[in-house]
Amino acid sequence: MLKGRHLVKPDDFTVEEIDSVLELGMQIKSNPEKYINVCEGKLLATLFYEPSTRTRLSFESAMNRLGGRVVGFSDPSASSTSKGESLEDTITIVSQYVDIIAMRHPISGAANHAAAVSLRPFINAGDGKNQHPTQTLTDLLTIKANRGSLDNLKIGMCGDLKYGRTVHSLAKAMSRYKNIEFVFISPDELKMPDNVKMEIEGTKYSEINNLEDAIGDLDVLYMTRIQRERFEDPEEYERLKDSYILDTEKMKIAKEDMMVLHPLPRVNEISVEVDKDPRAKYFEQAQYGMYVRMALIMKLLGL
Ligand code: CP
Repeated sequence: MLKGRHLVKPDDFTVEEIDSVLELGMQIKSNPEKYINVCEGKLLATLFYEPSTRTRLSFESAMNRLGGRVVGFSDPSASSTSKGESLEDTITIVSQYVDIIAMRHPISGAANHAAAVSLRPFINAGDGKNQHPTQTLTDLLTIKANRGSLDNLKIGMCGDLKYGRTVHSLAKAMSRYKNIEFVFISPDELKMPDNVKMEIEGTKYSEINNLEDAIGDLDVLYMTRIQRERFEDPEEYERLKDSYILDTEKMKIAKEDMMVLHPLPRVNEISVEVDKDPRAKYFEQAQYGMYVRMALIMKLLGL
């Protein structure tokens, strides 16, 4: 039963609960007309303290497509945060106005503090370099819709594994399915953090530097952006920013049914020429994000 619950990190939900959200997401995608009034009279707050295109707009589209309404901000300087109001006070107040909250914040752990005081279901829409659980639901739905199952997969995660909250959440979530193997592909400076590797204990993984060494064996290649905004040293970013560029030459080595995913936005880690390859699923992935957020809103509101 997900009614009234918060989602701060993927393992807040059991595998069965996640599967139920994915199932509803698939049903909504196949027959969206059936759901156009289910959130009538309900209000979602989107509180975005950090830039976003996909997450905020897919949440807002999701609530609108369910017949609900949306309030919120995408520029925290226009809220009372700029007068010094604490995050906890903001959430306490907003949760008295609305039925459900989605929040993005630049500080890792901020979502925990917000959920602790929220009177309504609270959804972490990304907190710093920590977690991005609704991106994970998006990723899982995209994989399941394309492959039919989330078991028996060799998944390469490539790029900024240190700061990339999407790969932290996805690794944790996928490690709960059967016969999963990860290949973590990154520069030494941007390796998957130890705390994530500890949390996926029991799941086979390897760590390498070269994408070409792994791409031929992968079922899923999850590319990520090198996250300029999280680097303390701009020179280090300049040195590492072009570590990986997926192009048509590298795609020739990949399996015919390998899926390329990316949470987006991309900078230049995937050449635009790859967009035409049928294995490139990242734009489709962004659309699944809206359907899975529709499902999540319905589940947390008990609808
Ligand atoms: N994938 C993702 O979180 O994209 P946005 O930053 O545009 O929301």
